[in-house]
Amino acid sequence: MRKKIVAANWKMNLTLEQGEQLVNDLLGAGLQLPEGREVVIAPPFPYLLKVKQLISNKPGFFLAAQNCYSEKSGAYTGEVSAEMLRSVGADFVILGHSERREYFSESNAQLAKKIDLALANGLKPIFCCGEPLEVRKAETQNAYVAKQLAESLYHLDAAALKQVVIAYEPIWAIGTGLTASAQQAQDMHAFIRAELAAKYGDAVAQDITILYGGSAKPGNAKELFACPDVDGGLIGGASLVAADFAAIVQSF
Ligand code: 13P
Repeated sequence: MRKKIVAANWKMNLTLEQGEQLVNDLLGAGLQLPEGREVVIAPPFPYLLKVKQLISNKPGFFLAAQNCYSEKSGAYTGEVSAEMLRSVGADFVILGHSERREYFSESNAQLAKKIDLALANGLKPIFCCGEPLEVRKAETQNAYVAKQLAESLYHLDAAALKQVVIAYEPIWAIGTGLTASAQQAQDMHAFIRAELAAKYGDAVAQDITILYGGSAKPGNAKELFACPDVDGGLIGGASLVAADFAAIVQSF
């Protein structure tokens, strides 16, 4: 059975004090996390160690970074390597978020290198894909996402791919209040799974967790998570409010 995951992507928000408060509020929210359900928290880099301390020994809670660099180590001032992230206790790393692709010009090829470094260091990548509005309007979103998957993931063997979580985040739904409908999410998730099945076989594809991201909220999470191929969410804005994020986590 593939895992169900709800991940909090804080992006570039909150002070350390606010972040600590948020994690403590979540830990105090009495979340029910049966076997196979995971909560992943992705704070900014400077808070990773602190959040790790807060969630250590809390079953079902895991730590993610929001990015890593595409080189192993060396003279890359300001960058953070996969090895460093592992050394502070990160379990996951978000890679290829549309904001990184857009503002930092990350390409599918560069993301393939990041994926490899993450895996080599024992981090599970949360690989983001998703189309911009003009692609959705042209109804070519399937081909667009298929290319992102092929160019960043398909060099992996099946064992490596099984370490990857995929997050479908249609760009037009991120931070806009415009959520994909449950049907739109299900259609794309089923398409992604079918693509993975064609490349790696159905057994592997059935094992891959595919998250939805884009204006997910307590009010729409239940309907989204009820879709057979939606295995949870990657939550931005609503992850900054403990009660909202907790409600989303409990939406399965
Ligand atoms: P919002 O939930 O704020 O739309 O952000 C989604 C997202 O980008 C998560 O990575």
